Amino acid sequence: MAPTERPLVVAANRLPLARAEDGSWTTSPGGLVRALLPTVQETKGSWVGWTGERDGQAEVVHADGIDLYPVPITSDEVDRYYEGFSNGTLWPLYHDAIRESNYRSDEWDSYVDVNQRFAIQIANIAPPHAAVWVHDYHLQLVPGLLRELRNDVRIGWFNHIPFPPLELFQRLPWRSEIIKGLLGADVLGFQRRQGAHNFMSAAQNLLDATELDEGLVHYEGRNVNVGAYPISIDVEDFELQASGRATRQRTAQIRSRLGDPEVILLGVDRLDYTKGIGNRLQAFGELLDQGRLDPERHVLVQVATPTREGVEQYQDERREIEQIVGEINGRHSRLGFPVIHYLYQSLPLDELIPLYRAGDVMLVTPFRDGMNLVAKEYVAAHVDGDGVLVLSEFTGAADELGEALLVNPHDDHALQNTIVRAVEMHRHERRPRMEAMRKRLETSTVSDWAKSFLDVLIDS
Ligand code: G6P
Repeated sequence: MAPTERPLVVAANRLPLARAEDGSWTTSPGGLVRALLPTVQETKGSWVGWTGERDGQAEVVHADGIDLYPVPITSDEVDRYYEGFSNGTLWPLYHDAIRESNYRSDEWDSYVDVNQRFAIQIANIAPPHAAVWVHDYHLQLVPGLLRELRNDVRIGWFNHIPFPPLELFQRLPWRSEIIKGLLGADVLGFQRRQGAHNFMSAAQNLLDATELDEGLVHYEGRNVNVGAYPISIDVEDFELQASGRATRQRTAQIRSRLGDPEVILLGVDRLDYTKGIGNRLQAFGELLDQGRLDPERHVLVQVATPTREGVEQYQDERREIEQIVGEINGRHSRLGFPVIHYLYQSLPLDELIPLYRAGDVMLVTPFRDGMNLVAKEYVAAHVDGDGVLVLSEFTGAADELGEALLVNPHDDHALQNTIVRAVEMHRHERRPRMEAMRKRLETSTVSDWAKSFLDVLIDS
């Protein structure tokens, strides 16, 4: 069958649109949705996922040029499958165990139930010989379950977050079930080579899978392709929006609203403990305390998008960050001029892009991040060829954006020195660095990413 004849079905925990409490639809949070939507629209594919509601309905919705198939999730499953197993067990474990994971069998059972429901829904709606592309850590059992139901479809799975080393992964009581579930796919994709390598090592050590060749694993009579496919953004669309007149005007307005400081430092993250927001703010505060930065010349804008507010670790993280912001502002703000502008809000793209443009120094300092698309968005938005990116070594983006100022966010002194270096960097150094990153980004867009994965999936 020719590749173009294979219809595309995407399955992810979230649909690209989420249902708000008043019944209206809004765009779902996170990089996954933003990255994937253009591909599904282009191919007129279907999307199977959750609306974000407790006890929601299962009616098909046609929106944004694609068919959306909601998978209903009960209130109890939101607690156990989503907030519990996905975000209280897998998320911290897969991010270097920077928070303690819970290991609860009732949450695992709920994870199995929801994965089963996804597999059944996909099996019911996938056209014959479809390419089914499953996404992320919420749905690791779907490839195996779907294979039992539909042997005519090709199955791919892509992990948007890191895949941990065996020493961490093997803490999971259900480690073999997860690997077995994933090995039901034809192609397994990871953000970085390290993730692919970690998976291979888990498959060989925990099950009797064998590596035939680099990137090819054999298990129970089938071969599975395992590789790295670093995700990206719709670069052209970002550039287009960033160069529009409305953006330029809004950028100038933002600068003036902030009191026309010499340097605007910017952070944009979901409010997640993996993102290193607190460390970054502390570093900024220390620099003000030491007089190495000056509240009259340097301000910081931190956008912290609300996320997973039902999970205790996120509530703690929010309290901690807001306390740090309060302390630093208390010490260094002047009347009418806070030194940190903190927004606990989700900003639409037409506000975010002018903010990226207004940001002279972008601070992306996660302790661990699968890719970090904010770093790429900042670079793409800087159509003026200016701006400095401070980027954690522990992000997937660091593999590609080597001209950023790379930093270890655990090292307070390095963080402080790197921020000062970024603030003081001369335009003769800034511009070539930014140009190099922009060039590289233009040749690796989200459609290149999707194409490279789907080509392997369809040919495998
Ligand atoms: C990350 C994950 C996505 C997730 C997003 C937002 O990017 O890889 O799968 O959708 O965070 O998190 P949420 O829990 O709100 O879906």
